[in-house]
Amino acid sequence: MTRHVAVVTGGSRGLGRACAVALAEAGWTVAIGYRSSETDAKEAAAALEAAGMPGLAVYLDTTDDASVQEAFRRVTDEVGSVTGLVNNAGFSQDGLLVKYSMDTYDRVMATNVRGSFLCTQAALRSMLRAKFGRIVNMSSAVALHGNAGQTDYAAANDVLDRLALHLAERGSMRAISVAWGPWDSAGMVSPELRREYARRGIGLIPLEAGVASLMDEIDESRATAPRVVLMGAADARHAVPSSS
Ligand SMILES: NC(=O)c1ccc[n+]([C@@H]2O[C@H](COP(=O)([O-])OP(=O)(O)OC[C@H]3O[C@@H](n4cnc5c(N)ncnc54)[C@H](OP(=O)(O)O)[C@@H]3O)[C@@H](O)[C@H]2O)c1
Repeated sequence: MTRHVAVVTGGSRGLGRACAVALAEAGWTVAIGYRSSETDAKEAAAALEAAGMPGLAVYLDTTDDASVQEAFRRVTDEVGSVTGLVNNAGFSQDGLLVKYSMDTYDRVMATNVRGSFLCTQAALRSMLRAKFGRIVNMSSAVALHGNAGQTDYAAANDVLDRLALHLAERGSMRAISVAWGPWDSAGMVSPELRREYARRGIGLIPLEAGVASLMDEIDESRATAPRVVLMGAADARHAVPSSS
């Protein structure tokens, strides 16, 4: 067992999977939380093992309290106390506010906000016992700038930023919220959105550069602000500039 055991929610695909592999490469034992595809999660866990660290796939639906408790219990029993958490599971569905479905609003809030709160609560106990912890909220730059059709998603991410702010700096437990710009090559940015961002001159974050920036932010030796904004350069070949 290693000292560092991290849970990545929604880790079976997209950005979560890329972050899970980077954590494994940095020496973390990682549990991949998955909701819909055990096959994808097992494939992601195998990628962790290829990176030289044990990987575990656990069913974890952030909207379901019992599944969160059970997932953390399994991780603790099978690989050790949790000292890292990436609140990555997310859901978004664009729509005009005037006719936005409240069921969709509830799902966005339950997945992104309540789910992150619940997982943080589950992880915090062992972090406080270990006197060490890293919590990363995968937030979005829309929390700062807004975006047409994404009012609930923007508000949800704003809450993630605030949660990190209020959790930050409890001894050696550190929480950060990364307000990401749109990513290239993986995740929720559809081809239509990609075209729209290109039209607006918004750069996409290259997968490797984004993951490397995230690992820099959680580096033990580095003091960071609770909220970090990471955007792609207009020319996506460049590394990700950051501000806070
Ligand atoms: N991609 C970007 O450009 C970008 C930019 C800013 C912020 N972010 C944030 O980064 C995170 C990852 O984004 P992504 O682009 O990789 O998204 P994605 O491709 O849509 O993947 C979302 C992940 O969340 C999981 N998930 C959804 N509902 C869940 C639930 N109730 N319980 C557990 N897992 C659930 C999904 O699993 P299932 O497939 O099983 O549903 C999937 O693994 C999100 O929080 C997003 O808001 C992304």
